[in-house]
Amino acid sequence: MPPPAPTPDPTMAQLAPALPRRLLVTGGAGFIGSAFVRSLLAAPDPPQVTVLDKLTYAGNPANLAPVAEHPRYRFVRGDICEVAVVTALAGEADCIVNFAAETHVDRSILEPGGFIQTDVFGTWVLLEAARQHGHRRFLQVSTDEVYGDIAAPARSTEDDPLRPRSPYSASKVGGEMQCWAYHETFGVPVLVTRGSNTYGPYQYPEKIVPLFITNALDDRPLPIYGDGDAVRDYLHVDDHARGIAHVLAQGEPGRAYNLGQGDQPIDGLTVARTVLGLTGRPPELIQHVADRPGHDRRYALDTARAQALGWHPQTQFAAGMAATVAWYREHRPWWEPIKSGAFWDFYQRNYRPRPLASA
Ligand code: NAD
Ligand code: TYD
Repeated sequence: MPPPAPTPDPTMAQLAPALPRRLLVTGGAGFIGSAFVRSLLAAPDPPQVTVLDKLTYAGNPANLAPVAEHPRYRFVRGDICEVAVVTALAGEADCIVNFAAETHVDRSILEPGGFIQTDVFGTWVLLEAARQHGHRRFLQVSTDEVYGDIAAPARSTEDDPLRPRSPYSASKVGGEMQCWAYHETFGVPVLVTRGSNTYGPYQYPEKIVPLFITNALDDRPLPIYGDGDAVRDYLHVDDHARGIAHVLAQGEPGRAYNLGQGDQPIDGLTVARTVLGLTGRPPELIQHVADRPGHDRRYALDTARAQALGWHPQTQFAAGMAATVAWYREHRPWWEPIKSGAFWDFYQRNYRPRPLASA
């Protein structure tokens, strides 16, 4: 029996009629893409949604199980780098929302090639298909990491220069640049969202929040890079999905929109302590390991432009983390199979060469 359909979200219900009617959602089996699809399809009279996803290690059909039987939903397994597949599907849509990407900074340090392929070349394939078919909208899901490190107390605005410092963020800038070029040269109605660090249910357990939660639930150490004082703006996934819907419905083509929680950014040690508090595990689980090469110390966003569209994050960090820990506690059958063979291969490669900085 499929899991119950998600509860309708009032914001999505309000925005759904203003969206293009036939969406091609690439990377929709991942963390944020699946939240967007689940939420959109729970709205009354939603658009037709076709998900195109390669199902890499991060893509998971279980993320879309709650909508698998929805009459306006279709899943296609495929690669955004394959021109024929993309062109055919784009011909049946009037809009592309591109979530598909390689997304983990640590993996980009170990193996950057796949990031260039999907995040840059794949984005170009999608843009070219949107151009050929005269799409009404093209939304590129980008990241606040394109701005690079930003010193306190400044916040990045959409007009700031892009200064990526990791292979991941450089590949996202490469994808964005193709978007801007297609907007300027061919008039493709491109919108870009630059979201901050996102957390919530159904996140593959390699980024800090789901890794620390699942490690803590299993009484494993929480590896903190360096001093643990690098800060991020943590945004709940439902707020991120709503922000994307706002920009898709109301954004002005040719513009980027920052999507961040907007509170004071939070450091890694605070994330670890929050997880330990919520799981009832001891502080001794915190283990400092050698820092990430090129570690960006701080991201912080000015979100006035997205807020002017009527988007406002609804979930505070404390409440969002409590709900997220509860979700992982209740959904072991979702994450336990993931934390097996291939996951531990990556874990060994990423964490073993990092000598323990201090206990
Ligand atoms: P994810 O890693 O959970 O999912 C990525 C999805 O893309 C997976 O389903 C994967 O199978 C699919 N995919 C990868 N390569 C593909 C290809 N060549 N063809 C088709 N599908 C492919 O990622 P996420 O965290 O959901 O991020 C989604 C988007 O949001 C990404 O573009 C990412 O850069 C951006 N973003 C993420 C965050 C975050 O904190 N997670 C923050 C800001 C922006
Ligand atoms: P991450 O979740 O990988 O997101 P990003 O690097 O894309 O912002 O990392 C968030 C922060 O947490 C970042 O400062 C690095 C830190 N971090 C750790 O301290 N330990 C870990 O095991 C991971 C994955 C991240």
